[in-house]
Amino acid sequence: MFRSYSSLRILAVAALVAMPVVWAVPSARATEGPLAPVNLRCEYLHNPVGIDVRQPRFAWVDRHTERAQMQSAYQVLVATTPELLAQNKGDAWDSGKTASDDSTQVVYSGKALESDHSYWWKVRYWDKDGNASDYSHPASFDVALLARSEWKGQWIGGANLFRKEVTLNSKVVRARAYVAALGYYELRINGEKIGHNVLDPAWTTYSARVLYSTYDITSHLRAGKNAFGAMIGGGWALLGAGEVPAPYKQPALMLQVNIELADGKTVQVESDNSWKVTQGPIVSDSVWDGEVYDARRELPGWDSPGFDDSAWSAAEILEGSKGILSAQMMPPIRDVDTIIPVALTNPRPGVYVYDLGQNFSGWVDLHVSGPAGTQVQMRFSELLYDTGMINRENLRGAKSRDIYILRGEGEEHYHPRFTYHGFRYVEVTGYPGTPSLDSLHGHVVHTAVETTGSFVASKPLLNQIHKIIRWSDLTNMASVPTDCDQRNERQGWLGDSQTSAEGVMLNFDMAAFYTNFLRDMRDVQGPDGTLTDTVPHRYGSRPADPAWGTAFPLISWYLYQQNGDRRILEENYEGLKKYVEFLRTRAPDNVLRYSYYGDWVAVEKTPGELVSDFYYYYDALLLSKIAAVLGNSADAASYMQLATQIKDAFNHEFFNAKTGNYANGTQTANALPLFLDMVPPDRRGAVAANLNNDILYYHDTHVTTGFIGIRYLMPVLTQFHHSDLAYDLAVQTTFPSWGYMVAHGATTLWELWENKTGPSMNSHDHHMMGSVDAWFYEALGGINVDPDRPGYRHIRIEPQVTRDLTSVSATVGSVRGKVTSSWSHEPGVITLQVDVPVNATASVSVPEGDEMTDIAIHEGERSVWEKGHFVEGTPGVTAGKLDGKRVVFEVGSGHYAFRVTEE
Ligand code: BGC
Repeated sequence: MFRSYSSLRILAVAALVAMPVVWAVPSARATEGPLAPVNLRCEYLHNPVGIDVRQPRFAWVDRHTERAQMQSAYQVLVATTPELLAQNKGDAWDSGKTASDDSTQVVYSGKALESDHSYWWKVRYWDKDGNASDYSHPASFDVALLARSEWKGQWIGGANLFRKEVTLNSKVVRARAYVAALGYYELRINGEKIGHNVLDPAWTTYSARVLYSTYDITSHLRAGKNAFGAMIGGGWALLGAGEVPAPYKQPALMLQVNIELADGKTVQVESDNSWKVTQGPIVSDSVWDGEVYDARRELPGWDSPGFDDSAWSAAEILEGSKGILSAQMMPPIRDVDTIIPVALTNPRPGVYVYDLGQNFSGWVDLHVSGPAGTQVQMRFSELLYDTGMINRENLRGAKSRDIYILRGEGEEHYHPRFTYHGFRYVEVTGYPGTPSLDSLHGHVVHTAVETTGSFVASKPLLNQIHKIIRWSDLTNMASVPTDCDQRNERQGWLGDSQTSAEGVMLNFDMAAFYTNFLRDMRDVQGPDGTLTDTVPHRYGSRPADPAWGTAFPLISWYLYQQNGDRRILEENYEGLKKYVEFLRTRAPDNVLRYSYYGDWVAVEKTPGELVSDFYYYYDALLLSKIAAVLGNSADAASYMQLATQIKDAFNHEFFNAKTGNYANGTQTANALPLFLDMVPPDRRGAVAANLNNDILYYHDTHVTTGFIGIRYLMPVLTQFHHSDLAYDLAVQTTFPSWGYMVAHGATTLWELWENKTGPSMNSHDHHMMGSVDAWFYEALGGINVDPDRPGYRHIRIEPQVTRDLTSVSATVGSVRGKVTSSWSHEPGVITLQVDVPVNATASVSVPEGDEMTDIAIHEGERSVWEKGHFVEGTPGVTAGKLDGKRVVFEVGSGHYAFRVTEE
């Protein structure tokens, strides 16, 4: 028996299926004071189906109609049925009224959660005055399989179509399917695809860990005969890439279905050799090369009951992976959007070229009718030749094409299942007749993360840059953050991900995605602490270039900063320590010199040793901070001491105190030590001046950095009061600049500052130069976490009002709720509107205009600053003080509208 049921629970579940659930709604919903929490999440996910965490964490967003409100206590109820929850009975966990201002990272502390069970939960909170909110709407989570022994399924293979029929003797009250694959799968039941995931499960280091998805299939099953079907493809399991050969010879499926029947019985269906297999219409599939699909080989009804599978063979039991099976706890890859082509040309007889108007990751959906056996080929490219033909020179070895062979009956629709392409243009050949603009549509495919941030400026170029960065970020989320989406690469290069991660987190809800990616990093970590350049490891080396391996500490730290996530630090601490200890073995004199890529794709080269050593310092510093957060004061002190030794050795090795330059004095060489405050204090000004001069006078307001340097250059300029210069770089339109890409029609960021199109390395969809988006949010928008009070417990709002910018509006969907900073500037008047979520506080740094002398500041109708002094009495605004050409107000939660004018 894999589990036991109480008859009570079955009755309750049966009742749930039989009638629509009426959630108990409190009679009079409060409209004032503390409002019921919203945005309930469990392990960062909305109503997750399938988590394998024994003590999941809850988060919610408090709301209130008054300013300056805090949560003083919460009560979480977790119930085993929705009915019990509706009666306010937390039979699994009732936290009681718990004095705490935590509205995120709240750890489940009830009865042991059971595998393959559903739970319902809700929360209410008390504000700082002791008033309670209503309970939130209910949310739910499903626990998947907590123990490996609960999996009865085996790894099976043998062909790419699988089926099995099962007869159920009574109605189904609850059913869950747990599905893992080495490669990709599509699960089908009774003729229908289950769920909306594509290219599932996420790519992992299969030998260490395979992820499985959980589906609620209750409504897909019925009393009587049911047919289970699966299609599988090779995905990354069959792709040899870079330095690593293909891990498997054939794709494999592992499945476990647990069904509860109305008669109280349970039925399990699992992958074993009772499944039948045959080769389906997918003739070949490869992530890089595309798919060949022969519709004549379709087997109508194969995934429905009653199909005659007597000619099919028995599935083979495979060794598969001996790795851990883990629940996939992050947004899946999905087909998230449709793109209608903008142009269709016919550059040569029989050759049709579609322009989708946007470079993206995904595939096309082809509509065609014609004789059976007609082969339509679609080839994908990011670029065109002047002749109008597609230019695929930068795809290197990737064939990137799909071939559809017609069935020959009526209108046929086809899109591939087990591949994706990075493209803007599609060349169609072999089309029977003349295709129209409507004969194909683009489908955007990537990890379906939620957009939580927004950035809009009065300067259209900045909005265009922001837009192409967002496209590059999204189209490089293929369950891991990839470098590119088109050529024979698409790897989780750590250097690329560490530079853009912070900007990505400000735009999208990334917590679950990066939590998984950090686990991927742990999976590749060697016993000696080493990491690999790509994760999972295919390309590049072990040990990773230090500017790549630093993704491990940096992304851990960003997640902690953004979400207040201590558990991520706890889970990774030993690994992080091993990593830094490995670096130490390579730096006997405290200088870490080994480097492969350094400031990659730079216009002016910086010595790789300087870049590596900078990250050695950064990693030791972060480890010390992380140890302090975790209360390990001995480690905190010893790694701080190590960091200080590294800093001294770094200055000794690379700094010329006389000239005020590091190494060869490139922008990167000087920006890096300025960013981490490594420069001897008396020479800080000199180094900053050198950096400024290099940009302004030697390079006519252009960057010369690669993608490492650019991550730090912009914030350093802002830190040293040169936001105007950073802004000039941001809106530059000649080479090298982001504006140069936009001016040349880029719809995603390029890999290189140069506009190259030949056979060399020049992807037109790389995200790492997009690190400037963090600067858009943090400097221009002005939204910053306070490093000492992470998770937006305290927020620093400090927008840079500069040059011809007349307005910026930025929003971040933080763990505590929406944070907004929206300002406008016209001569003599600056306005700044701010939203601070309940249960957070903020320091709002209101700038004066350069043209202003004596200023007055109002918030709404009330004066808050007059004749150089703070004016008390405005609700929520507790203090104000002068800070150079800015006034910093301390505020509580709520919406504020500041207005600065000449006195
Ligand atoms: C990738 C980069 C990556 C680099 C390492 C390239 O092929 O596309 O973005 O970081 O290799 O040098």
